[in-house]
Amino acid sequence: MKVQFTETVLRDANQSLIATRMPFSAFEPILETIGRAGYYSVECWGGATFDSCLRYLNEDPWVRLRKIKEKLPHTKLQMLLRGQNILGYKHYPDDIVRKFVQYSVGNGIDILRIFDALNDLRNIEVAVDETKKRGAHASGTICYTTSPVHTLEKYQQLAKQLESMGVDSICVKDMAGIMGPQEAYDLVKAIKETVSLPVILHTHCTTGFGPLTCLKAVEAGADVIDTAISCFSGGTSQPPTETLVYAFEQLGYEHSIDTKVLKEINDFFKPLKEKYLADGLLLPKVLGTDTDALTYQVPGGMLSNLLAQLKNQNALDKFEAVLQEVPAVRKDLGYPPLVTPMSQMVGVQATTNVLLGERYKSIGKEVQSYVRGEYGTPPASIDPALQKQVLGEEQPFTGRFADTLPDGFETAKAEIGDLAECDEDVLSYAAFPAIAEKFFQHRREQENNCAHYTIIELDD
Ligand code: CO
Repeated sequence: MKVQFTETVLRDANQSLIATRMPFSAFEPILETIGRAGYYSVECWGGATFDSCLRYLNEDPWVRLRKIKEKLPHTKLQMLLRGQNILGYKHYPDDIVRKFVQYSVGNGIDILRIFDALNDLRNIEVAVDETKKRGAHASGTICYTTSPVHTLEKYQQLAKQLESMGVDSICVKDMAGIMGPQEAYDLVKAIKETVSLPVILHTHCTTGFGPLTCLKAVEAGADVIDTAISCFSGGTSQPPTETLVYAFEQLGYEHSIDTKVLKEINDFFKPLKEKYLADGLLLPKVLGTDTDALTYQVPGGMLSNLLAQLKNQNALDKFEAVLQEVPAVRKDLGYPPLVTPMSQMVGVQATTNVLLGERYKSIGKEVQSYVRGEYGTPPASIDPALQKQVLGEEQPFTGRFADTLPDGFETAKAEIGDLAECDEDVLSYAAFPAIAEKFFQHRREQENNCAHYTIIELDD
């Protein structure tokens, strides 16, 4: 029996606890040590890190990746990719998705964990295909949620489809931390019985389930679990690496972790955590356990967004009513998993329904696109009355939305002009136009301090 570990401190723990605000300079000194710990992989890029680098940290995300690779040449670097949404919130054309994958691999990524919020696998197939072509590891992802249509059979079907797509492993992604230990056991077992690929479990400690869920998932045959070095673990982050290493060791599992090195890593991050607590960037609230997500079946991040929205509208007294409305809206929309961008769409619509005192008196623009089929196929059918209200006599779109998009790379390249110094810049611009442009301008003003690019040649 063997278990392997993916360290998340540089990406998900960073994103979940301190809104992805850790600059490269803060963790640079510990990278070589991380390389000696014996991790299966280090999740260090993608997700919100890209946006945050450009928007808040004045860092070039591609340069960050290359510098990480330099210090961690023998460790598998992992990123999170939102399928056809790349690292943003809308669907991008295929040529941009392919180039993004090419350059991610070319700049140092070994494993791409690729997901679609609706588990509509048509939205990840181009990214998976390109990952394979570039010789990297494609980890096909299943977003976990609960609903009458999310049965074990449904998840087994998804696993089978991923296997036929040619993925190298399957990740079960519980972004909300609502998966209980028994659910994890049953699900991992069902997937293991269906496909012969390595299974990875990703969860969060938000509701307190984290370590129990990892334990039962590994008992059921999960090969890899995601954990965060202890001082950046718990709360909305992952379960603690050290604790789980010790626990699995006691239970007789083999692993390749050097616990002395983990201690060095944790000792390095401890003062950083203290600093973020003192700065107010790390709120004690996110380190606690919040079981409300289990009561309401609403992810923790979504709960705080709803509270903020209602506070803005001076309507905090409507909180309970909105929470009651969320499951109703989710049902009408065909039970989408509550992950970005669906969690925001469902939350805003539920709030609107309650504040206007009438269901769907006003329907958000994104919800309308969703009902039109532009995000993909919902897990279950959309409520017919709602569909009729949005579409009238029109039929919903049932194709793959990216097929309707013209190629975008050359257009983006022409638009940004010589502010872009390489293809990676064009991709940054395509992903986050306004923010990237501002970043390039700033970089130009500081020309003398700016490290010049090595353009990585990729053979097509
Ligand atoms: Co996560």
